[in-house]
Amino acid sequence: MSETSMPKEEGLDHSLAFLREGYEFILHRRKSFQSNIFETTLLGKKAICLGGEKGAELFYDPDKFIRAGAAPNRLVKTLFGEGGVQTVDGEQHRNRKAMFMSIMTKTQLQRLDMLIEREWEKASEQWEQADQIKLYEASQRILMKAACAWAGVPLDDEEKRTEQMRHLFESPAALGPDYWQGRTSRSGADQWVTELVQKVRNGELHPIREGALYVFSWHRDIDGELLPEKVAAVEVLNIIRPIVAISIFIVFSALALHQFPEEKSKLKTGDGSIQRFVQEVRRFYPFFPATMAKVKQDFEWEGYHFEKGTLTLLDLYGNNHDPHLWEQPDLFRPDRFLNWDASPFDFIPQGGGDFHMGHRCAGEWVTVQVMEVSVNFLVNRLQYTVPNQDLSYSHTSMPTMPKSQMILTDIQKVTS
Ligand code: HEM
Repeated sequence: MSETSMPKEEGLDHSLAFLREGYEFILHRRKSFQSNIFETTLLGKKAICLGGEKGAELFYDPDKFIRAGAAPNRLVKTLFGEGGVQTVDGEQHRNRKAMFMSIMTKTQLQRLDMLIEREWEKASEQWEQADQIKLYEASQRILMKAACAWAGVPLDDEEKRTEQMRHLFESPAALGPDYWQGRTSRSGADQWVTELVQKVRNGELHPIREGALYVFSWHRDIDGELLPEKVAAVEVLNIIRPIVAISIFIVFSALALHQFPEEKSKLKTGDGSIQRFVQEVRRFYPFFPATMAKVKQDFEWEGYHFEKGTLTLLDLYGNNHDPHLWEQPDLFRPDRFLNWDASPFDFIPQGGGDFHMGHRCAGEWVTVQVMEVSVNFLVNRLQYTVPNQDLSYSHTSMPTMPKSQMILTDIQKVTS
């Protein structure tokens, strides 16, 4: 087949446009080129952007793309941590991913549900005494305590550790001191959990055997070796940190309950489903704009040439808002999930493809469950007022959320 030239964005570099257009950067260009593939230049380097179901399917072909060396250093040094599962490929990745998926059993997910529910109960008792709460921070405390209990991690200084987790996911795209705060929190958190791994290995600490701390401390890689202590710690943090980050989706859930009261009523009367509501929150609101990989070897696809080493971005936000994949994508309509065919490539807020073979988020089931428990609590177990506040959210900050971080007042528990 003869080679076709890829639609290409003119100009020297488009990093500034990416910052300006944020989540919509790739989708805008997919629309204007009328193509799910185009070439651009980011940070001085050629980059291919992919979207659509077929684009996502290609992106998750492990023979075509690799992750080693794809993520920018600032992401690895804050959000991911060095040596983590996100940056490995092939057999090594499958071995590491199996370690993550081994703790995602039905029993363990039920245990997490109970822990989350218990923390919501305890926290909401205190909220009744408070004038107001900011749901972003308040839910982070709930999630941190439950995540550590689930992972078997003793929580020494709750406030400090929760703040460290928050910095890890708030800092990657930050500038100046906020970015450096993320680096400091990464070192502090790595050191904290590395010491715990050491204690597990030398018999000083006996965490729950089903939790991430125990399982990852004793996991053996493809050579039969234990993971380096620091890598095991990075992976334990790859469980705790993203559970705390679910606070962003909890805030967006509360925003949706507020802005779409008819959907809230449906949940109260049982005419709607919490699961569909949660799926729509994950589709509708922005979280990660894209994920990235590098071309493994030269290849041709649909007549386009992919050159070894080229940075390639998959449009996560754009696929969730693609008018070819979703009817009226800019409307919040949980019932659209009644007819969804569960394709692994259209609804991809947490990546696509297969959990075990590819890099799709290991914690997607955890996220859905934690959100379901939390939405149920907000709808059926609490009464509260949403006072006037700035509920607008940026489409360029990453991560983003309502500016006021969702203030709630007059909180009362509903006795069931
Ligand atoms: C807060 C909501 C979450 C969002 C929006 C999210 C999103 C993502 C995305 C976009 C990826 C990368 C997919 C790719 O590159 O192909 C990913 C990977 C990952 N996520 Fe999540 N995630 C969330 C929650 C979680 C939770 C709760 C956990 C753990 C309990 C988790 C653990 C992981 C791990 C370990 C990976 C790396 C998987 C791999 O490289 O094979 N995430 N996530």
